[in-house]
Amino acid sequence: MRDQARNAAFDVMRAVAERDAYANLLLPRLLRERGISGRDAALATELTYGTLRGLGTYDAVIEACSDRAPDPAVRDALRLGAHQLLQMRIPPHAAVGTSVDLVRLRVGQGAAKFVNAVLRKIAGRSLEEWVPIVAPDPDRDPAGHLAVAHSHPRWVVTAFRDALGKDAGETADVLAADNDRPQVTLVARPGRSSVKELRDAGAEPARYSPYGACLPEGDPGRIAAVAETRAAVQDEASQLVALALTRVPLDGRDERWLDLCAGPGGKAGLLDAIATHGDLEGLAATPAAGGAGGRAGGAVRPGLVRPFAGGARLVAADVQHHRARLVWQTTVDAGVITADGTEPAWRPEAFDRVMLDAPCTGLGALRRRPEARWRRDPSSIAELSRLQRRLLGTALDAVRPGGVVAYVTCSPHLAETRVVVGDVLARRDDVEQLDARDYLPEVGGLGEGPHAQFWPHRHGTDAMFLALLRKRA
Ligand SMILES: C[S@@+](CC[C@H](N)C(=O)[O-])C[C@H]1O[C@@H](n2cnc3c(N)ncnc32)[C@H](O)[C@@H]1O
Repeated sequence: MRDQARNAAFDVMRAVAERDAYANLLLPRLLRERGISGRDAALATELTYGTLRGLGTYDAVIEACSDRAPDPAVRDALRLGAHQLLQMRIPPHAAVGTSVDLVRLRVGQGAAKFVNAVLRKIAGRSLEEWVPIVAPDPDRDPAGHLAVAHSHPRWVVTAFRDALGKDAGETADVLAADNDRPQVTLVARPGRSSVKELRDAGAEPARYSPYGACLPEGDPGRIAAVAETRAAVQDEASQLVALALTRVPLDGRDERWLDLCAGPGGKAGLLDAIATHGDLEGLAATPAAGGAGGRAGGAVRPGLVRPFAGGARLVAADVQHHRARLVWQTTVDAGVITADGTEPAWRPEAFDRVMLDAPCTGLGALRRRPEARWRRDPSSIAELSRLQRRLLGTALDAVRPGGVVAYVTCSPHLAETRVVVGDVLARRDDVEQLDARDYLPEVGGLGEGPHAQFWPHRHGTDAMFLALLRKRA
């Protein structure tokens, strides 16, 4: 039975390496097809996800214990073995023995001998003992050390460190948080579901979001509200950045909202519900929304947050038709269109509020997909940030004087966040930046402002970035 689990993990590792498979899609399918369930399914899952997350560290240890570079299939088996030896409580003789059997069966007798020798060496030390041996000296190369110790590409380590700025000492904490599996967070879309309904189905209230609930275990799809799209799986920071956009008080008309990059529809689902029904939790709270647990080190400025009363309509756009279809499935009242945000299908200044959740590297959500950190490519940043600037330009053109734009990325990388906002603002004199933290008074630790930066190690959320920009009246 153990071998079934290890064979499945090995197959997923090979598919990830050879055909860019997504482990979180392929593994559940393999488990289903092969009838693997219970403890074996849990073992296969831990083996696959844990090994993919940790392989930066394991590769360094494997290299230190090998006299030659292993073939790709052998290397994957060694990585699985290293994970069992260094991170799981599997007895060394079992971890080595089952790995050798796996390689003998799947690769060949010669490779099995090599794997036996390498894994025996690895088993001689604990992870804590290996790291100082295989990682660069932390004094001479701090980023290199963190990259190996916490199994992230070096460029991601430096991107997090730069984004943390004066809090760069927390870089190791972000990396460690990325290695934890995120808990499942749900959103109860106002007017369509409620946190109470989700609690009755076994969820617990979320830390910050008045519409959030955490599901400690079980399949979210079994909850009726989720199955009926009245609620959904959504990271808490994603809920809060959407909510912040709706909380900015506007003078005059407030009826037309735009979600410029809406697919697959997470934020659009919440915005659509608030546009129609209002920010029901905010309206119920008195006198100032979010009074409890206010921003650390700063008073909540009363009167800044204004819960939306309802009566607006959302237009949700995405350039990809299949993603626009997903938005259509998840919203109720929104008008959904397939449109390229850089070539507006609407009149200038047509909207009162605009959400731009821009396409980005996704460095803020690496914890969600075990292999994602190894797939991202720093060379994509220049092109992405050009597109982000263009889209922010069209978002600002789409909003009326006095209206507000939320610029959001699921990445803390400075080139996708502050640099984009700074460049666009430098070229326009019709826009002012608001302090986004003022519209999230229940959340502390969002940085120095005026933008708000969420972090997994501080908030238990994705590393989501928010800037709020108002077009001058
Ligand atoms: C970060 S995702 C948005 C996630 C979404 N807001 C949510 O909460 O589920 C970015 C989206 O932008 C879309 N996109 C990329 N380029 C675009 C463009 N030029 N115009 C409109 N949408 C675009 C992508 O198809 C993708 O669905």
